[in-house]
Amino acid sequence: MKYLNKLVLVNFITLLLFNLPVLAVDIENGKTLHNENCVRCHQVSQYTRENRIVNNFDELRTRISDCELSAELTWFDEEIDDVTAYLNEAFYRFNLEK
Ligand code: HEC
Repeated sequence: MKYLNKLVLVNFITLLLFNLPVLAVDIENGKTLHNENCVRCHQVSQYTRENRIVNNFDELRTRISDCELSAELTWFDEEIDDVTAYLNEAFYRFNLEK
């Protein structure tokens, strides 16, 4: 029984460590990904123009995902999250606290 408890604990810690980097968004990575892949069709002024089409964080993520698809980048969800976090931090500034 004691052995089993230890096993469960070790598993738990391993899971935790393994998942941590995935849970945290990486804004610097988002910036790099964006600057390397996303200014081909439009400049960053697209995000600050007066009649911009994105009005909240969910729309921002959806738009990025759509642009990512049309650019044929095959990003992971985590990469889309990183770029969403970067664009929100640098340009959109939607408040995420409910
Ligand atoms: C194949 C060309 C193309 C590429 C590459 C592209 N986009 Fe776009 N993107 C567009 C077009 C076209 C629009 C404008 C759509 C409109 O005005 O209706 C747009 C609009 C946007 C908007 C909305 C701007 C607003 O009005 O608020 C965001 C955000 C955006 N793109 C992010 C990205 C990101 C992030 C990438 C890199 C993954 C990217 N785009 C790559 C074509 C592209």
